[in-house]
Amino acid sequence: MKTVLSILTLTVFLILLTALPNTALQSRRHGPAETLFTEQFFSQTVDHFNFNTMGNATFRQRYLITDKFWKAGHGPVFFYTGNEGDVWDFALNSGFILELAAQQQALVLFAEHRYYGKSLPFGNSSFNIPQVSLLTVEQALADYAVMITELKQQLAATHCPVIVFGGSYGGMLSAYMRLRYPNIVAGALAASAPVLSTAGLGDSRQFFQDVTADFEKIAPECRDAVRGAFSQLKKLAEHKDYSRIQSEFALCKPPSSERDIHQLNGLLRNAFTLMAMLDYPYSTHFMGNMPANPVKVGCGTMLRGPDLLANLRDTAGIVYNSTGVLTCFDLYSLYVECADPTGCGLGFNSQAWDYQACTEIELCYESNNVTDMFPPMAFTEQDREIYCSKRWAVLPRPGWLKTQFWGDALSAASNIIFSNGDLDPWANGGVRKSLSSSLIALNISGGAHHLDLRGSNEVDPESVISARQKEAEIIAQWVEMERSRLQKTL
Ligand SMILES: *[C@@H]1O[C@H](CO)[C@@H](O)[C@H](O)[C@H]1NC(C)=O
Ligand SMILES: *[C@@H]1O[C@H](CO)[C@@H](O)[C@H](O)[C@H]1NC(C)=O
Ligand SMILES: *[C@@H]1O[C@H](CO)[C@@H](O)[C@H](O)[C@H]1NC(C)=O
Ligand SMILES: *[C@@H]1O[C@H](CO)[C@@H](O)[C@H](O)[C@H]1NC(C)=O
Ligand SMILES: *[C@@H]1O[C@H](CO)[C@@H](O)[C@H](O)[C@H]1NC(C)=O
Repeated sequence: MKTVLSILTLTVFLILLTALPNTALQSRRHGPAETLFTEQFFSQTVDHFNFNTMGNATFRQRYLITDKFWKAGHGPVFFYTGNEGDVWDFALNSGFILELAAQQQALVLFAEHRYYGKSLPFGNSSFNIPQVSLLTVEQALADYAVMITELKQQLAATHCPVIVFGGSYGGMLSAYMRLRYPNIVAGALAASAPVLSTAGLGDSRQFFQDVTADFEKIAPECRDAVRGAFSQLKKLAEHKDYSRIQSEFALCKPPSSERDIHQLNGLLRNAFTLMAMLDYPYSTHFMGNMPANPVKVGCGTMLRGPDLLANLRDTAGIVYNSTGVLTCFDLYSLYVECADPTGCGLGFNSQAWDYQACTEIELCYESNNVTDMFPPMAFTEQDREIYCSKRWAVLPRPGWLKTQFWGDALSAASNIIFSNGDLDPWANGGVRKSLSSSLIALNISGGAHHLDLRGSNEVDPESVISARQKEAEIIAQWVEMERSRLQKTL
C-alpha cells in the first residue's frame, strides 16, 4: 500500500517535473544570461543639477551585475548605458558584451535608465507634471557617471578601465558618456546610434525611405503591393466604408472617424518599421516576437494572393499577432501614437519615451507615399509643438541636443566606435564614416538594428563576425591605454 502510494506520488511528481520546463520556456527570461546576472539597486541622486529643489533625495535605480568573468581588481568594467526600456530586455539581447567580457576578463554592469522599468524616481507618480521633468539625457548621464564611480569604489575596481556600450538611444548615451565624462569612461561602443538625425541633422524623409528600401530589396513587387494596399484602404476610407474596413482588417471595433483611420495607418506602418529594424537572420524576442528574416516573411505575406488588404492585415499580424491568439486588432491598445513616429512602445516606458521625444530628442520623421511606400503622414516641428504642449505642457527645444552633444562636429571627440547595419532604418541617422583614427565607423552589411551587440549565432553574416572582432581589438587597445593612464595618475 505504502509502496503503491509512493510510486503514485513519484509518478505525479515526475509528470509535474516534465511539465515545469515548458512553463519556464514560455517565460521571456530564460537561458544562461538570466542566471548570470544579479539584480541590484543603487541609491541614486534624484536631481544632479539643482541643490535646493530635491535636496539630497535619492531613488532606487536598478542595475544588473555579473563578475563571473572578471579578473577582480584588474579586468575592465563593461558598462551598458541603459535606454528606453526594462534593463533585462537589453541584458538578454546583448550577448556580445558577455562574450567579450569572457575574452577580456571584464566585470559587466547593465544600468537601467531613470524613469524606465523599475527605476521610477517618484514611483507611479513619475509621469505627473512636474515630477517627469527630471527625465533628461543630462540626468541619465550623470546617473551613470555617479554609479560607475561609486560602484568602482565598492567593488575595489578603482584601477579598472571602464568601457561603455549601448544600442540605439543607448548607443547615443554611450557616445555622450565619452564626450561628457572622458575622466570616467575610456571608450564607447555606440551601436546603431542615430546621433545626427535625433539632433535634427538629416532628412525627415530618410527613416521611412530606408524602411521601404528594405522591402524593395526583397522585391520591388513587395513595395508595390504595400503601396497598393494602403491605396485601397484610402479609397475605402474616402467612401466612409467603415464596416468593410473593420472586416478586412479584423478590427475589434469599426472605425468611425478620420482619426481612427489615421491610427490604423500608423499601426500598420509601425509593423513595417519593426520588421525592418528587427530584420535579424534568426527569430528573436526583443521588442516583441519576430520570425527569422521578418522582412522576407513580410514580403512573402504581402505577395501571397490577390487580396491586398488581407495580405496587409496578415503582414501586420506578423508583428501584432505573433502568438496567433489575437481574435481582432484593437487600434488603440496595440499601437500608441506619440511624439516618435517610429513608435513609443506601450505602458509606462512609452510615456517616458514620449516625454523625451517631446523635449530633447527630435524625431520629426514623415512618410509621404513618394520617397516611401506609406500613406502621407507628416510630423512636422509644428505638429510636435502642438502635441507636446498639450500632452506634457512642454515646448520642444530643437537644436538643444546638437548644442549639448556636439551635433555633426564630433571629430574633436575620441575613442568611439559607431557601428551600423545597412538594413537598419536608423543607420543613416548616425555616423557612417570614420571621423579620425579613434572615431571609427563600422558598416555591417546585411545587419539590422545593433546586430553586433547580440550574441553570436550560427547564421550570423560574415560582416557581423568581423565587426565584432574589430570591436574586440579596438576595445582591448582602449583598455590598455587607459590602464597605463590610470597607473600614471595613481
Ligand atoms: C539628507 O540630508 C538630511 C539633512 O538635511 C540628513 O538628515 C539625511 O540623512 C540625508 N540623507 C541622505 C540619504 O544622505
Ligand atoms: C504602479 O503601476 C503598476 C502598473 O500599472 C502597478 O502594477 C503597480 O501596482 C502600481 N504601484 C503602486 C504602488 O500603485
Ligand atoms: C491571429 O493568428 C491566428 C493564427 O494564425 C489567426 O487564426 C487569427 O485570425 C489571427 N488574428 C487576427 C486578428 O488576424
Ligand atoms: C500613393 O500615390 C499613388 C500615386 O502615385 C496613389 O495612387 C495612391 O492612392 C497613394 N496612396 C495613398 C495612401 O495616398
Ligand atoms: C555598407 O555596406 C554595403 C554593402 O557592402 C554598401 O552597399 C554600403 O554602401 C555601405 N555603407 C557605407 C556607409 O559604407
